[in-house]
Amino acid sequence: MKLTSLRAAGASLTLLTLGFGALLFSASAQMGSSGQFDGKWLHRVPDEDRARSNPLAHQPQAAEAGKALFAENCAKCHGADANGRTHPPPRPSLRSARIRHATDGELSWMLRNGDPYQGMPSWASLPEQQRWQIIAYLRTLPPRSSAAKH
Ligand code: HEC
Repeated sequence: MKLTSLRAAGASLTLLTLGFGALLFSASAQMGSSGQFDGKWLHRVPDEDRARSNPLAHQPQAAEAGKALFAENCAKCHGADANGRTHPPPRPSLRSARIRHATDGELSWMLRNGDPYQGMPSWASLPEQQRWQIIAYLRTLPPRSSAAKH
């Protein structure tokens, strides 16, 4: 008799733990969908945009100009070192593997269109030449250091 009620208590405790775990899990899944950057925008880039290359690639002067434009327009969200930010609202690093592997054309598409629903403005107001300069600058940045704390 005693043993059965102990078992029953044990079983309901297990159920309680499972239920709580599920709650935590769904909470973190929800946070994941709103607070994490998944690069979904890359799927929206048309092939002809993806294939474009930077006419200013490997030009140190262009990268230099891009550096100033970055400080002026982008650093407030992506960080002065482009390593992104974690304090709310979070912003992705531009020194990530995703951005280093993205084509010039993909980055150019993102700068022109932005991703307004995710908080990334469109930079179509900047002349196209300046957007290429910024991309040339991004290419000079070292990969994100894992030691960086943000
Ligand atoms: C108001 C804040 C804000 C500013 C200013 C801003 N960005 Fe962003 N940027 C974001 C957010 C938020 C995202 C994430 C959007 C997404 O994942 O769809 C993002 C995403 C990006 C991405 C894609 C990153 C990835 O990992 O998928 C690139 C590239 C980018 N921004 C470049 C720039 C550049 C270059 C500038 C300056 C011309 C700039 N951003 C200015 C907020 C900003």
